[in-house]
Amino acid sequence: MVEIEYKNTRIKLGPSDLVYEPAEDSFLLADAALEEAKPGMCVLEIGAGSGFVSAVLKANVEGIRVFATEINPHAAHCAKANGVEVIRTDLFRGLKKGNRGISFDLILFNPPYLPTSEDEKVPGWLNYAFDGGASGRETLDRFLDEVRNYLKPGGRILVLISSITGLEAVKEKLMKTGFEVDIVLKKKVSFEELMVVRGKLV
Ligand SMILES: C[S@@+](CC[C@H](N)C(=O)[O-])C[C@H]1O[C@@H](n2cnc3c(N)ncnc32)[C@H](O)[C@@H]1O
Repeated sequence: MVEIEYKNTRIKLGPSDLVYEPAEDSFLLADAALEEAKPGMCVLEIGAGSGFVSAVLKANVEGIRVFATEINPHAAHCAKANGVEVIRTDLFRGLKKGNRGISFDLILFNPPYLPTSEDEKVPGWLNYAFDGGASGRETLDRFLDEVRNYLKPGGRILVLISSITGLEAVKEKLMKTGFEVDIVLKKKVSFEELMVVRGKLV
């Protein structure tokens, strides 16, 4: 089994045709999450993939509790093998909202963010890692519609997007749903600029 090491954490990778392999976007989100997370926080990662970001947080932040969801069963299996508590579901489905369930200090998502036409889809479960629908924001928009229901008062989100995802549209939706918005990290990678957008619940 192939493994990688990042910030004191060894991560087992799944088969590359079934599970998203951590890449520049994963590293940028992990770095931003390490800056944001405080000891003892309760964190949720949506779309954990191999479990890379969650595992890095668990290895580096004392007393942190991390939960994750993932739609791809192969990825959920891989995240579990990396010690991440993950349930296989679509976004938040199955989690109870607000004070009737668990709520989180911080919620993370590196979503499928590429605008994707029918003939650009990749076969099988791996398509969920890339396919952002025609706008690049279809899954992200569904996430943004729901996320505040799972945050503690004053809670925060970190979302990875690319310059081709449409920063202005993402910012506008976040502000409409009650968040203050800023960009906490950026990195130019070949044809795109990756960025981590932070939303603070006001
Ligand atoms: C770009 S990959 C990121 C994986 C990992 N978080 C990382 O940073 O390496 C996006 C992940 O989100 C998952 N995903 C896509 N749509 C989802 C949904 N509706 N619910 C849960 N997970 C989803 C994909 O299967 C994929 O593993």
